[in-house]
Order: sequence, then C-alpha cells, then structure tokens
Amino acid sequence: MNPLRSLILAAAGNHTIRRVVAGAPVSRDVVRRFVAGETTADAVAVTSKLVASGLTVTLDYLGEDTTDAALAEQTVHAYLELLDALEAQGLAERAEVSVKLSAVGQLLDERLALENAGRICAAAQRCGTTVTLDMEDHTTTDSTLRVLAQLRESWPWVGAVLQAYLRRTRDDCARLSGPGSRVRLCKGAYAEPPDVAFADAHEVDLSYVRCALALLSGDGYPMFATHDPRLVRLIGERAAAFEHKPGSFEFQMLYGVRPEEQLRLAQLGHTVRVYVPYGGEWYGYLMRRLAERPSNTGFFLRSLATRG
Ligand code: FDA
Repeated sequence: MNPLRSLILAAAGNHTIRRVVAGAPVSRDVVRRFVAGETTADAVAVTSKLVASGLTVTLDYLGEDTTDAALAEQTVHAYLELLDALEAQGLAERAEVSVKLSAVGQLLDERLALENAGRICAAAQRCGTTVTLDMEDHTTTDSTLRVLAQLRESWPWVGAVLQAYLRRTRDDCARLSGPGSRVRLCKGAYAEPPDVAFADAHEVDLSYVRCALALLSGDGYPMFATHDPRLVRLIGERAAAFEHKPGSFEFQMLYGVRPEEQLRLAQLGHTVRVYVPYGGEWYGYLMRRLAERPSNTGFFLRSLATRG
C-alpha cells in the first residue's frame, strides 16, 4: 500500500489526531465537498438537487465504532427522522439509506445491531425505500453478513456491500448473487493485513473484475460502486454482453467525486446512485476519502493551517 495512504488511514483511527483535526475550524468548503451538511434538512436539500438532476441517492448518517448504546440509539433516531423527511418530500422512491452496523451497536452486541438495523429497515419499508449495510474492516465481515441474512428474512431487499480487496470476496459474491439479492461492490477503504486483502492496486482491480463478473452472471441486482474509469467502461461492456439492460444494475459514486461522470452515465440511461454522507461525525469518512487520493491531502492540510 502507498505509504501516504497508510499514514492517512492510521490517522483516521488515531484519537489524538481526530481531536485536533475535528476540532479545528476547518473551512466548511473542505468538508462540504464530500459531506452534505450536519442536519436532516441539509441531507434532504442535497438529495433533492441530485434527484432533480436525474440521479438516485443513498444517505449515510455519519458515525462508526460506537461503544455507547445511547449513541447507537441516537443514530437510529437520525435515520428514522431522515426516512420520514424523505417520504414527506416525495423522495423515498429515489433515495435509500446506507447503515454502518458499528454505528448502531455492533461493537457492543451483534443482537443490538440486528435489532436497531431492523427498526431502520421497518421504517424504510413503510416509506417505500430500501437499506444497504455498509461494510467496515474485515474483522466485522462475518458478523455483518450474519446480520444481513437475518434482516433479509423479514426484508429480502436489504443490500450488502462487498469489498474486492478482500481475498474472500469472489466467493461471497457467488453466494450473494441469487434472486432478489442487492450487492454493492466496492474496492474497499480500510487498512487491511495482506493475509486477508490484496495490497497491490492492480490485484485489487483484477479482483474487482472477477467479482463483478460473478455478480453480473448471477440473478441479483448488482450495484457497482467505483469512480475508476476503466472499471466503469468494462462493466458497461460486460453488462451489455450479459444482456443486462440499464435498470437491472446500477453505478454508484460518492458525493463530490466525479460529479460530471455521474451525470454523463445517467444521461446514457444508467441508474446512478450517489452516496451522500451527512452529520457531525465526518472525520473518519473524510480521512478515508483523502487516503484514496493523497493529492487532495495538501489542499486539506493547507486549509487546516490557514484556518486553524
Ligand atoms: P480508486 O480510488 O482506485 O480510483 C480509481 C480511479 O478513479 C482513479 O485513478 C481516478 O481515475 C478515479 N478517481 C478516484 N477518485 C477520484 C476523485 N476524487 N476525483 C477524480 N477521479 C477520481 N468502502 C468500504 O470499505 N466499505 C463500504 O461500505 C463502502 N461503501 C461505498 C459506497 C459507494 C457508493 C462508493 C462509491 C464507495 C464506497 N466505499 C466503501 C469506498 C470504496 O471502497 C473505495 O475506497 C472508493 O470508492 C475509491 O475506490 P475507486 O473504486 O473509486 O477506485
């Protein structure tokens, strides 16, 4: 792994650095490039604009690694409020939610995370939308897939994220490519040891292609989350070869990353979903985005130095 990337990912998990950076009066513009804002109203306003431009959305209430049941409860409430607001604004058909199980209690007790995620799924069903479970570091993969299987007994549309950098993922894709299954395939954003994950970027790309083919040849609904132009092109070609029509799979990208490409793909008739994070806990999320593109880091550090 690129040394700067490792350094930034290490900083993402360091509590002292988190305190200094998150407390600094960083320009709102730096954070706002990747984060919709802090409130439900901010999230809904950004969603409205994206939907009006022909895109679909998945919303993530920022927060992770919660070790406090009260905070997990607060996260559930944020999602319930958001879902009500999406329904009230007529956006629920085009906007779903993404949930990190560690934000709703997974580190405390898997059963608590299951129960909390279930409350969010029930609300999503009532509002006419769906939920996708984000995937975090590899120590949580088995637990997240167990919770997914249990949720899908009541809400078969619950989606999962699989990370191509994990050596196990090709098999997970095959297992999860059955009818009705919604799988978001991404490269993976955490610092992982080489025994579980490919470290070389080219190997990760090859794994992404193998996983994508497993999903495209299955009966589920694949969701390809990448900004990589080569992968986007290849998936478009392979989807056509598998006779997947636009609408039977989708492309997904992060808010603030390659927005022109998002619109271009939508104008070609593809479903394009933008992952929109919001809330006050932006630090870990922003650090992972900077690690993916260390060229953005100078811009971020300069902004800290001039405003801090
Ligand atoms: P990569 O970062 O390798 O970039 C490949 C190419 O894409 C670059 O060479 C460049 O051409 C282009 N590109 C990338 N970033 C760009 C930028 N800022 N501006 C211009 N061009 C750019 N991860 C995870 O571990 N768990 C999860 O649950 C999720 N969820 C998730 C949802 C969605 C919708 C997305 C899009 C991503 C995630 N991720 C994730 C993050 C994912 O694992 C990954 O870290 C990022 O998407 C970056 O990987 P890329 O596939 O974009 O390729």
